[in-house]
Amino acid sequence: MIKGKNIQLFILLLIILIFSLITISERLIAEDELNESQDSKLTEEQQYAFYCSQCHALYSPKAKSANEWVKIVQRMDILMKEEDNWGKWQQIKLMSDEVKKGILSYLEKNALKSIDPDTIKNKQEIGSQKYRDFCSRCHDLPDPKQFTKDKWPIVVSRMRKYMQKEGIIMSSDDEELILTFLQDNATD
Ligand code: HEC
Ligand code: HEC
Repeated sequence: MIKGKNIQLFILLLIILIFSLITISERLIAEDELNESQDSKLTEEQQYAFYCSQCHALYSPKAKSANEWVKIVQRMDILMKEEDNWGKWQQIKLMSDEVKKGILSYLEKNALKSIDPDTIKNKQEIGSQKYRDFCSRCHDLPDPKQFTKDKWPIVVSRMRKYMQKEGIIMSSDDEELILTFLQDNATD
């Protein structure tokens, strides 16, 4: 009697299990189809906000130059595919080629304006050296011409805050030297 009951219970659990697996997979397929039709309606910026915040907080597009973004998006694409292979519990939505292109185009349009360090004049000057050292640690070297003289102090003090968070120490003397260099090479 007891054995018979156990078998009945086992079969019942098996049916419940199969049924829930079917519903879960149907839901995932439905979500995928929904997302695909939604993708085309999202702007590039919305696509960036959705896909690139799945594992970490969203980066400002200004945090990297266009050149850097090309490499980063490529690396993240690989990371996302690896993550996807690990296990399905935390589902990562992968980027289609179309989406990837859109995200990259948004990032490139809004990227940090950088400059080739080789084109910098007065390389021997201490301010120029400090600028090249400190200002290329988190992103490509920023072009001094992208801001006017009066705008640079605001930007540099914002950068000092990011540096503090990362444990990079820029003395006030260094900051002064860098700021002077930037202002000397800024647009009026
Ligand atoms: C699967 C999880 C995942 C997704 C999704 C993801 N990232 Fe990342 N991201 C990481 C990890 C892990 C790191 C740190 C390791 C590294 O930099 O390779 C990182 C680091 C970064 C960094 C810092 C890299 C640096 O060199 O300073 C940037 C910028 C970044 N991600 C941008 C993006 C963008 C843009 C997207 C969307 C296309 C994205 N991430 C989507 C996992 C992810
Ligand atoms: C600790 C990392 C870090 C360092 C070092 C750093 N930056 Fe940045 N920089 C960032 C981040 C993050 C952003 C994007 C967020 C923002 O714009 O506030 C950024 C963005 C910028 C931008 C684009 C801002 C805009 O509004 O267009 C400029 C210009 C810039 N940095 C200049 C500099 C200069 C000059 C230095 C050297 C004094 C420097 N950065 C050093 C992290 C850093």
